[in-house]
Amino acid sequence: MYRTHTCGELNLQHKGTEVTLSGWVQRSRDHGGMTFIDLRDRYGITQLVFDLETDAALCGEARKLGREFVIKVVGLVRERSNKNPGISTGDIEIEVKSFKLLNASLLPPFTIEDRTDGGEELRMKFRYLDLRRNLMKRNLELRHRMAMEIRKYLDRQDFIEIETPVMIKSTPEGARDFIVPSRMNPGEFYALPQSPQIFKQLLMVGGYDKYFQIVKCFRDEDLRADRQPEFTQVDCEMSFAGQEDILNIFEGLVRHLFSEIKNTNFTGPFPRITFKDAMDRYGTDKPDIRFGMEIAEITEYTRGFGFAVFDNAEYVGSICAENCASFSRKQIDQLTDFVKRPQIGAKGLAYVKYNKDGTIKSSVDKFYDKDVIQKWIGLSGGRPGDLILILAGDRVATQEALSELRLEMERQLRLVKEDDFAPLWVVDFPLFEWDEETGRFYAKHHPFTSPRDEDIHLLDNDPVSVCANAYDLVINGVEIGGGSVRIHDKDLQKKMFEKLGFTDEQANEQFGFLMEAFRYGAPPHAGIAFGFDRWVAVFSGSDSIRDVIAFPKNNSGRDLMIDSPSALAPEQLKELGLSTDRNYD
Ligand code: AMO
Ligand code: AMP
Repeated sequence: MYRTHTCGELNLQHKGTEVTLSGWVQRSRDHGGMTFIDLRDRYGITQLVFDLETDAALCGEARKLGREFVIKVVGLVRERSNKNPGISTGDIEIEVKSFKLLNASLLPPFTIEDRTDGGEELRMKFRYLDLRRNLMKRNLELRHRMAMEIRKYLDRQDFIEIETPVMIKSTPEGARDFIVPSRMNPGEFYALPQSPQIFKQLLMVGGYDKYFQIVKCFRDEDLRADRQPEFTQVDCEMSFAGQEDILNIFEGLVRHLFSEIKNTNFTGPFPRITFKDAMDRYGTDKPDIRFGMEIAEITEYTRGFGFAVFDNAEYVGSICAENCASFSRKQIDQLTDFVKRPQIGAKGLAYVKYNKDGTIKSSVDKFYDKDVIQKWIGLSGGRPGDLILILAGDRVATQEALSELRLEMERQLRLVKEDDFAPLWVVDFPLFEWDEETGRFYAKHHPFTSPRDEDIHLLDNDPVSVCANAYDLVINGVEIGGGSVRIHDKDLQKKMFEKLGFTDEQANEQFGFLMEAFRYGAPPHAGIAFGFDRWVAVFSGSDSIRDVIAFPKNNSGRDLMIDSPSALAPEQLKELGLSTDRNYD
């Protein structure tokens, strides 16, 4: 037998019991005649004691055990004289009678501690060691509990989990596909799903009116802290449901998880904000509403005073940082550098200091007199002691830059409390997005999203104004989920493909099966998908979704542990009918 108990389980009630434990040597200390070893497993840490006087040979053997050696010990539970209230087993220790070395370990390349000395790259290469750390353990346990609660809630609501294939053909969700060559069909390829979108719609046609799946999705896109090339969605779809039904059922799911996992209960429905309001007030479609500092537009009060930058700008907007009028020259220069970073792309930053004594100092006061500046202060909600930060330029780009500046000010001023959560729905997204580069429309969500009924007549002449029945769930500035009411009418779907620039042949070749299915009594349907990794990351307080994925990839899409992607042997390539420019010898 390897163990009678775990390393997180024993307390004073077990005093005097003989127990067997197995685990890893976390650390060992010699104190004169005593050797103490912290034995660790998934459940916790238990202190082992070896006494030189009682059993010199055993103690001598114990002193040879290195960090991360795997051992089995048999011993008596006894009360500790020097208690450790910080851990669940802190009242007891094990007086070891015998132990067995189950496996030795090389010295780990970094310490298995909360504050490890290992950099991310090293930890990724030895991820199985990193996974032994508390942080990873807590995150993966949290992930498991969340998955269980999701299944529980949805099962109770009569949803059933149905698996959909992983080798499919391209689904257009806006990213590139990962491709799998087919040996049996030379020159032909499967694509990995960017989401099960089309399959879940076909399940609706198949009569499974409440579907969900916790499922891997694959997208070949540029990676960031909140994006992995393979990630997990909680993918859901319902028939005979419209936007209101989806928002209600899935707000229920979100509340259930908040309540069960975070012990947080919200009063009243989640706030809803339109896409347009989100952009105007926060400069982003995923606002963090845990703090104010909303954007104000001051365009019309900046024109015609001879300041070319503002005169020529499509949009001038500001945010008000409370009690920051005392910011130094250096601090403002740093903020200017921040907004000028290429990722943010502002050309400059203007400011107004509304000092405590009511005087005003501004970087643009040679162009504007006090009355005008006072007007901006009023629109921005400024009070004496505040700092108004102003950006000018193209509307959307400037709103987005203001959003970044707002978040940066929050980081500097620490306006939000840890473990404060603010979920909200963003609704009324535009159906289309114009792409300057390719000179065509793209679906803002995806091509199966239905326009609002009242906007259908605008499709031909004013497509930009068409709103979609689409919605996102945002928590703390993170887009956690998104979905839409789908088109279930073949003619409307055909029209949508047309608007998106597909020829009839292209639409048929890519989505013929869907259009065909819509001819056999497709029910009205709608759905949503949650980014499970992001949701877990928000609940765990992690900055990166890598911290909640057991085996993630790095920002170049590499798995450093298994060293993937990797080259193929020439025979394998030949069998697949592939050739590459790489030299494989
Ligand atoms: P969407 O593309 O908005 O919708 O994706 C849904 C959610 O998945 C998460 N997400 C990601 N998480 C980690 N890494 C990524 N690369 C990544 N990409 C997306 C986000 C996002 O909100 N089929 C539709 C859903 C529907 O209409 O029902 C879809 O996939 O949290
Ligand atoms: P200048 O006349 O170039 O010295 O600019 C006067 C002020 O306007 C400085 O504080 C600049 O940083 C600021 N400024 C320049 N371009 C912009 C812009 N696009 N948005 C906001 N402020 C700007």
